[in-house]
Amino acid sequence: MLSPHQYRYERNIHSPNCQNLVAVDAGGSVVGYTSLLLDVYPHSGPEVWRKYPLYIGVMAVSPEWQNRGVGTRLLERQVAESRLSRPQYSFIHLEVDPESAARRLYERLGFEKLEVNQGSWLMRRAI
Ligand SMILES: CC(C)(COP(=O)(O)OP(=O)(O)OC[C@H]1O[C@@H](n2cnc3c(N)ncnc32)[C@H](O)[C@@H]1OP(=O)(O)O)[C@@H](O)C(=O)NCCC(=O)NCCS
Repeated sequence: MLSPHQYRYERNIHSPNCQNLVAVDAGGSVVGYTSLLLDVYPHSGPEVWRKYPLYIGVMAVSPEWQNRGVGTRLLERQVAESRLSRPQYSFIHLEVDPESAARRLYERLGFEKLEVNQGSWLMRRAI
């Protein structure tokens, strides 16, 4: 489901600092995936995901399963699990192209723009 090009965030996925959730269909096939970085790595690079704790680096639903509530449920579950994993943090973060349909979904779920980085919006909501 992830793109084949090398995207540096993807290197986090096997780390214990990453909270990964999948959605599966009745046959057990993965139809949605979300990955969240729990803590920050400010010492090792300038990327936004290194600066903010509870940062969702991947949100993806298979095209044939989109617009059926899978993304909403993955995101709500990610927020709920974050509260349990890291109760010391107040906000969960993600980045989005403001022109994309995903932005509407995030706003509907309470995310608000925090800053703009090279055209992408960094959004957050209280957990
Ligand atoms: C963005 C993405 C993860 C959203 O996942 P999704 O499963 O389609 O999300 P949902 O179905 O929960 O919500 C999408 C829309 O469907 C609607 N919807 C939710 N449940 C629904 C249901 N049961 N029936 C019909 N429509 C529904 C929602 O109202 C929502 O509309 P809105 O965005 O206008 O508010 C998915 O479209 C995707 O993978 N896109 C490509 C990758 C991408 O852009 N990732 C995000 C990068 S930041």
